[in-house]
Order: sequence, then structure tokens, then C-alpha cells
Amino acid sequence: MDWQALIDQAWAVRERAYAPYSNFKVGAALIAEDGRVFTGCNVENLSYGLTICAERVAMGAAVAAGVTRFAGVAVVADTGVPISPCGACRQVLSEFGVPLVVLANRESVETFTMEELLPRAATGILDRP
Ligand code: THU
Repeated sequence: MDWQALIDQAWAVRERAYAPYSNFKVGAALIAEDGRVFTGCNVENLSYGLTICAERVAMGAAVAAGVTRFAGVAVVADTGVPISPCGACRQVLSEFGVPLVVLANRESVETFTMEELLPRAATGILDRP
């Protein structure tokens, strides 16, 4: 897996972020098991709570294209340390079993398993017999 290429796509889509309220731009690139990539940027709203994070925009694009099986996701932002996805996005990424989450800033890359970021997310519900 060429994670650097995925990170580069996340940086590219980050340029399209609509973030006039926070001025904090985020890019996400989700790679499917078949290699297709779906990207997303954050989309803010004057009713702040309606803001959608980059990760969920990418997931929406993938699901709308009929894709629900993934190899991983890269999330980038211009932060001091690599960005960390919010709880809502962790839950949504977990819903579709995204196994690996690659987080990057301009200097460094950190990789986590979904289980590390959201332990026991599906226990007893999605895993029910
Ligand atoms: N944001 C994301 O898009 N992804 C994250 O992982 C963290 C936060 C967005 C939401 C909002 O538009 C801005 O960043 C500030 O929180």
C-alpha cells in the first residue's frame, strides 16, 4: 500500500475545505479494498453544529459510489502534531470496518488501528450473532 500517495491525495483535497469559521482545513482520503480512493474535506456551516468533518465527507462519497470495504484512511491537517479524528468520525469509520487510520501533518505520519482509536466499537451490536 502506497500510504504516501494516499496522504498526498488528502493534502490535495484539503485545499477545497470550506472552513470560513474555524479557518482549520482538513483533508481525508479513504482507500477501498479494490484500490479506489474517495476524498473529502471539511464543510462548515454558519449553524456550527452542522459542520461535516473531512472523514465523513469521504465516507459519504464512497458509500454513494457503492463502496463499503476499505483498506484504510489518511487524514491530514496543518497541525503541530498529526490531527486526531473526532469521536463522531471514529464511530463512522468504525461502522465500515476501516482497519487503518494514517494521520499526518507537514512533518510526520502516525498510523493507528481502528481498534486503538475506538476500542470495542462494535462489540455486541454489529458483531451480534
Ligand atoms: N475537522 C475535521 O474535518 N476532521 C477532524 O478530524 C477534526 C476536525 C474539522 C471540523 C471543523 O470544520 C474544523 O475541523 C475544526 O474543528
